[in-house]
Amino acid sequence: MFYNGRHIISARDFDRGDLLSVFQRTADIEKKMKTPHGRRELGVVLKHSDGAPWRVKVMFDEPSTRTMDSFREACKALGADCTVTTNMKATSSRAKGESWEDTVLMSAIYGYNCLVIRHDGTEPHAMRRAADTLKAYGFEASVINAGEGNIEHPTQMVLDLYTMWAYRRERFEAGKLVCAFVGDLADSRTIHSNLLALRHFGGKAYLVSFPDNNVPDSILQETDGITVEKVECWDQIAGEVNFWYFTRLQKERRSVQPDADFERRYSECYGATERFWRAIHPDAFVMHPLPRGPEIPGKFPPLGEPRIVYHKQVYYGWMTRMALFSLLHEAREA
Ligand code: NCD
Repeated sequence: MFYNGRHIISARDFDRGDLLSVFQRTADIEKKMKTPHGRRELGVVLKHSDGAPWRVKVMFDEPSTRTMDSFREACKALGADCTVTTNMKATSSRAKGESWEDTVLMSAIYGYNCLVIRHDGTEPHAMRRAADTLKAYGFEASVINAGEGNIEHPTQMVLDLYTMWAYRRERFEAGKLVCAFVGDLADSRTIHSNLLALRHFGGKAYLVSFPDNNVPDSILQETDGITVEKVECWDQIAGEVNFWYFTRLQKERRSVQPDADFERRYSECYGATERFWRAIHPDAFVMHPLPRGPEIPGKFPPLGEPRIVYHKQVYYGWMTRMALFSLLHEAREA
């Protein structure tokens, strides 16, 4: 689970046992959060042996609503100190040409125990380089990948798979789950990480997208544990799928902006239209990492549509990040 025993860099680092232990820890934390006694117990988890709080720095290059808040709230609930830097690329000395390695080292010098990083992916292997640089200079800080360009988003993977596990545990563990990942599959980092982890459980993954907008081969080469099938439209698989996972068009990743006609076709083909709701299985669930675009129209939170679970994903994002922090703390301080 932890790269070099202390970092969360890629979904590739999680095996089946790791994921099940994060799920179990998350379920325990969910229970504890419901009682005053449990919340008090959790409130001293991220401490050093002398009682001093862990110091966590959340450093984000790209905008975020949920990921940033959930990490900050997880720190709060577990008794850590948390500092947040947003818009890091523009506000740090990287704007003056400081190297990525130097920026990371500066945070380590101030004694942070953990750096939660979102990077725009413009520099190759930014997360692994951050972790390796800290190691080379003898710093103890952990790096947590909170989203790296269009490459990976491993902690979103944990919350997405936890959602599937929570709603369809038996099927999930028996390798019988059928998922459909729909939309901008080339640039969706959450879907890349999900596929890399689902292979430990088996089942089937439909990739539903325009043919020239599919998951990169580098990821597909590592999905040997699941049956992957590419389809252009959801019609032919509508009754078969347990979890539909939508994603928005990642316009900020494109050098040429899609025109209005392309966006309209995207929403029609890869959106939850009225026809879609009528066609899918009554027991299916609809997920989305959020933010949603026009592919999921309507109110939030969803009223009267029990198949929508993306509001639960948001909550599970908080719980799973608490679980990851607590397991990381155990691995480092035990
Ligand atoms: C996603 C992300 O940042 O990759 N959102 C998230 O972390 N919850 C999805 C997206 O931006 O489309």
